[in-house]
Amino acid sequence: MLDMKSTKSERQKLGTIREISLPIISDPRGDLTFVEGERHVPFVIRRVYYLYNVPVDSERGGHAHRKLEQVIFALSGSFRIKTDDGKTKSEFWLRNPRKGLYVSNLIWREMDNFSQGAVCMVLASERYDESDYYRSYDDFLQVSRDLGGA
Ligand code: TYD
Repeated sequence: MLDMKSTKSERQKLGTIREISLPIISDPRGDLTFVEGERHVPFVIRRVYYLYNVPVDSERGGHAHRKLEQVIFALSGSFRIKTDDGKTKSEFWLRNPRKGLYVSNLIWREMDNFSQGAVCMVLASERYDESDYYRSYDDFLQVSRDLGGA
């Protein structure tokens, strides 16, 4: 069901994507990377989830969010993220555990090409809320166009 109503935060900006580099502290014992909410990522971290045991031919994502902001990392292995702000499509390969992809609200994303043993960690600005999802691409596109993104 298409929900044409947009929230205030949706109206404030269209979707944005950017790469985020985290600090690294290396010594002969190995590398250490850390992430602090509101410093390295532009939001309070309210949820962390991770994908693992992902079959190499798996396709994940296939949705956008009304409010949720995320930063996505490949902690191990690699995978591809395809993004779409309703106007421009991009693709990113994540393979470095200190390089994440910030994905704002109103970005359609699809993830595939998972390497064997890949681990995807996601930092999220909100707790899980199914009502925050656009699971239909057509609904997402309609809202994006409504907001002037396409
Ligand atoms: P979904 O976000 O569709 O996964 P992906 O984008 O990786 O393909 O979520 C898959 C299922 O897991 C769905 O039923 C919702 C549930 N889920 C939670 O219960 N809590 C969470 O934090 C997340 C991310 C998903």
